[in-house]
Amino acid sequence: MLRRLARRSTRMGTPARSARLMLAAAMCAALAACDGGTTQPDSADSRNAAGASAHDANATSNSDGARLMKISTNAAAATHGQSRAEVYAQVRRMTALGKQMFFDPSLSGSGKMSCATCHSPDRAFTPTNALDVQIGGADMHRPGMRAVPTLKYLQAVPAFAEHYHDSDDEGDESVDAGPTGGLTWDGRVDHGADQARIPLLSSFEMASTPRKVTDAVRAAPYANAFREAFGEHIFDDEDATFKAVLKSLETFEQAPDVFYPYSSKYDAYLAGKATLTSAELRGLQLFNDETKGNCASCHISQRAKDGSPPQFSDFGLIAVGVPRNRALAVNHDPRFFDLGACGPERTDLGHRDEFCGLFRTPTLRNIALKKTFFHNGIYHSLEDVMRFYSRRDTNPEEFYPVVKGKVNKFDDLPRQYWTNLNTDAPFDRKRGDAPVYTDAEIKDVIAFLGTLTDGWQPAAH
Ligand code: HEC
Ligand code: HEC
Repeated sequence: MLRRLARRSTRMGTPARSARLMLAAAMCAALAACDGGTTQPDSADSRNAAGASAHDANATSNSDGARLMKISTNAAAATHGQSRAEVYAQVRRMTALGKQMFFDPSLSGSGKMSCATCHSPDRAFTPTNALDVQIGGADMHRPGMRAVPTLKYLQAVPAFAEHYHDSDDEGDESVDAGPTGGLTWDGRVDHGADQARIPLLSSFEMASTPRKVTDAVRAAPYANAFREAFGEHIFDDEDATFKAVLKSLETFEQAPDVFYPYSSKYDAYLAGKATLTSAELRGLQLFNDETKGNCASCHISQRAKDGSPPQFSDFGLIAVGVPRNRALAVNHDPRFFDLGACGPERTDLGHRDEFCGLFRTPTLRNIALKKTFFHNGIYHSLEDVMRFYSRRDTNPEEFYPVVKGKVNKFDDLPRQYWTNLNTDAPFDRKRGDAPVYTDAEIKDVIAFLGTLTDGWQPAAH
């Protein structure tokens, strides 16, 4: 049984695990950290990083810095004898190129869709609209099948592992935390470059081809910069060009000041530089309380033992029994089920029943900026999400279809996989029990979640 065998202690949290990410990304993170976090003065969020006097920039970058320094040394050694300065310069070039390509619709089949169309920087790289799923494709009419996750704090996602062992787990590395990590909702790729390939080539997203991407980059205003970074004749090789595009996108996604600034009010609070309101404090307690929401057992809220800031996810793949979203085009077929880690999007674990219904726990950092929640985009407010956690088991008729007086619970997961469903608090209630939270408590938890938004500034008075 690969259900999570033991929940992690809310008292300890988990460490950031950047070290397990790919080389280019690690180089970028490392070198930027070594540079005091000021490597991207032109980046979208640099105001936040610059203005983050209230967050403990020192504590964060010191602990990150030491860890990342090691990676950068390894990276430099691994890149064919390049000097540290050369590696550094290349990472800068790739970050700048990746940023331009991230916003460039000419890479898409329609010419109308860039990464930023779905991943908008002012919404923590999630959509500006509140659609359940986004519309893309060559004709810009094809609906997707999953809600768009944030791209922030992905540097901490470990590579996918079926059995994850974490030294922060109550000091006991023999504890099997179950399937953990990987990018996308089902953890099917480990590297940003492999991930970027998915939307670029997907028929319902950017609907492009390596040929089209190569032509677009060759004609782009940044074509010369691309040649400078990857060689005069790079465009002669379509394969090499496409790979360089993917690597550059991956490198951009690792820019610390844009993607993991740790500049929320909660970060300032952890550093002793902000006070939470009484509602926010009550919400934090309700979030952590193991007999209530028990949220922090999966969405880690405290610093790790090594002092690294909490990521608000332990990156575990978990089945929480989200209701079927009948508005999705794929779900018009009653035989279709998005079963997460066991498919159909992910194909390597398709024969393994114990992975069915599992989706990766998302970070809750910047959650207040999102307009659509859960992998199938069924909810559109944090109130609705909270009500689900609070009343799923006590009042299931509020969430699942009622057929002839009987509640069709867990209607998006065939019954043979129900043993995969998590049964810890808050999922340990039954009908007739009191819901996990009162309405007032739900308001408090939502107030707390609002402290997780980056770019917090102390009030001017
Ligand atoms: C049409 C909307 C759309 C576009 C355009 C798009 N994405 Fe996404 N992105 C998504 C969705 C939906 C997911 C979740 C996919 C899944 O779980 O299968 C996702 C997931 C991701 C993830 C993984 C996030 C995580 O939590 O693991 C990354 C990284 C990412 N996208 C980067 C990009 C990049 C880079 C581009 C441009 C090359 C891009 N996306 C273009 C919709 C989009
Ligand atoms: C057992 C682990 C677990 C616990 C406990 C848990 N969550 Fe989650 N959370 C998840 C997983 C897994 C998902 C994604 C589920 C899906 O989409 O199928 C999720 C999704 C969410 C989302 C939507 C995020 C997004 O980007 O769409 C929010 C908000 C959230 N959880 C808040 C909470 C709160 C608040 C609590 C406590 C009341 C809580 N969670 C308890 C695992 C957990």
